[in-house]
Amino acid sequence: MTPIETTSRPARAEDLPAMRLVQGLALRDLAAREGRDTSSWALDDQPTPPMRYLLRRWPALSWVAIGDGQVIGFSQGFVHGDLWFLSNLFVHPDVQGGGIGAALLQKCLAAGLRRGARIRAVSSSPDSAAQALYARTGMIPRFPLFALQGSAAALRKLPASRANLVEVGASRTWIRRLGDLDEYVWGRRRNADHQFAHREMKVKCLAIGGSSAGLAGYVYYAAQQVGPLCARTPRIQLQLLRAAGDALGEDGAQLRVTVPGINATVLVGLLEAGFRIDFSNLFMASRPFGRFDRYIASGGTLL
Ligand SMILES: CC(C)(COP(=O)(O)OP(=O)(O)OC[C@H]1O[C@@H](n2cnc3c(N)ncnc32)[C@H](O)[C@@H]1OP(=O)(O)O)[C@@H](O)C(=O)NCCC(=O)NCCS
Repeated sequence: MTPIETTSRPARAEDLPAMRLVQGLALRDLAAREGRDTSSWALDDQPTPPMRYLLRRWPALSWVAIGDGQVIGFSQGFVHGDLWFLSNLFVHPDVQGGGIGAALLQKCLAAGLRRGARIRAVSSSPDSAAQALYARTGMIPRFPLFALQGSAAALRKLPASRANLVEVGASRTWIRRLGDLDEYVWGRRRNADHQFAHREMKVKCLAIGGSSAGLAGYVYYAAQQVGPLCARTPRIQLQLLRAAGDALGEDGAQLRVTVPGINATVLVGLLEAGFRIDFSNLFMASRPFGRFDRYIASGGTLL
């Protein structure tokens, strides 16, 4: 059921807790529709660091829908060069199917196009309404994005690197060198994302190859996640994952690694090492870009 009056406006920092709550409700409802057990699904109104970052860095691309004075849906996205990416689109389950999601999507996209974006992309949930909306907005399925789960011990089954591993910092020189590799693999730079990862997420980053040819690869890792990872050749990815496994040590926590389905080296390597598929999303884009056979995403929000 749609409220009688629904309006949309740019999101503000004080909307973030309500946005987070709507996200939780929409995801829990989707999981229930998929037949998953949601009895222990906890809801909270603590905005995630990426939600805050997106609003701060690209304020024109964050929108909320308001009904009966409440936030009932929101969209968030980013632009890197000519790429517009839809990071979040969620509508309260009580008011889905009433055109709110489509309107929020269009607001976010229009802001991206005004910033000069030409390519559109998203990591879509399995929700049919979402995938239909994205296809109708010019984005078609390119490959699945698998969320794999496994342990640091499983990463240590992968081949070790003989080259030197170096710890990466947030200096200008490092951001430039990371960006050179991003341009080759990802198709564009994403300097702000690296600064965010180092300064706010406080995740660690290792790189291989300090030669004049530039970095051979880098990998971010934290207690529960590995990625993004970017490598000049598919094979180097396994060495980077091994290095992350070594650095994480005996920590028994389950790690999430978000692997493009066309990244055969990592998909097969991790499954052989004992990782399991937790779920998969669908990467949809208006046209192919990047070399995703040598890339691991940070997740579906910042890619
Ligand atoms: C995806 C979501 C944001 C869409 O918001 P919404 O307000 O329900 O969407 P809208 O009503 O604007 O549009 C949905 C469209 O999908 C269409 N649709 C729904 N199911 C469909 C199907 N199986 N096949 C084709 N089209 C379908 C609807 O007909 C509608 O189009 P119409 O208005 O032209 O009839 C919302 O459903 C949601 O929050 N889902 C759960 C969370 C999620 O998966 N978010 C996406 C994260 S990537």
